[in-house]
Amino acid sequence: MASRYAYKYSLAALVFSRLALAQTPGTQTAEVHPKLPTYKCTTSGGCVQQDTSVVLDFGYRYIHDGATSCTTSSGVNTSLCPNQATCSANCQVEGVNYASAGVSTSGNALTMYQYQTANGKTSSVSPRIYLLGPDGNYVMMQLNGQELRFDVDLSTLPCGENGALYLSEMSATGGRTSSAPAGAAYGAGYCDAQCPRETWRNGTIDAAGPYCCNEMDVCINLP
Ligand SMILES: *[C@@H]1O[C@H](CO)[C@@H](O)[C@H](O)[C@H]1NC(C)=O
Ligand SMILES: *[C@@H]1O[C@H](CO)[C@@H](O)[C@H](O)[C@H]1NC(C)=O
Repeated sequence: MASRYAYKYSLAALVFSRLALAQTPGTQTAEVHPKLPTYKCTTSGGCVQQDTSVVLDFGYRYIHDGATSCTTSSGVNTSLCPNQATCSANCQVEGVNYASAGVSTSGNALTMYQYQTANGKTSSVSPRIYLLGPDGNYVMMQLNGQELRFDVDLSTLPCGENGALYLSEMSATGGRTSSAPAGAAYGAGYCDAQCPRETWRNGTIDAAGPYCCNEMDVCINLP
């Protein structure tokens, strides 16, 4: 299991030849969120199962214009994405195969793998995922006066690997807009206290440099 993993509990052109709105979900791979039921408990009402699932971060996805990736090793493809509007017109974001991304769930258990092997080749997938509510937005945890409870199995987390569960103050919708409609359902909107420079910020190109969000680390595991 693991790698730096996280439930993100947010506190909080159509061009004639290219029918794509950026960050409009593409049609090559369906986005099927692995179910991960969570529970809300009160002394009077007991524990009530919540219809929650997990979603892989936006930056791990194939974002393309139908033929070419809109992401390069050094950022966005500047021909396809010279600016936000053109990028929105050109690019679409695909769903992911969660098993290949190193993420699976079974009942209320989540397993994450740092490495995956495909066609005899092992590579680092190091998934980062967020907790999604039934409305397709991130779950906003209101933890004041509450308890957050979970179990972590570190027994197979090897030396040098890091698994983490933390809260970050992200937009519940993942910054969803009419020109970047994928939003939280495609894992957009990541932000943390290390002020990351993301290639894709809020599901669109990051033209504004680093940005910061409040973060509260709940469980960072360095065996
Ligand atoms: C960027 O996109 C253009 C247009 O599709 C393509 O010709 C070019 O090879 C791409 N560049 C990179 C670095 O992928
Ligand atoms: C993402 O979008 C949300 C909602 O529009 C906005 O409140 C937030 O500031 C944006 N975050 C960044 C880092 O641009």
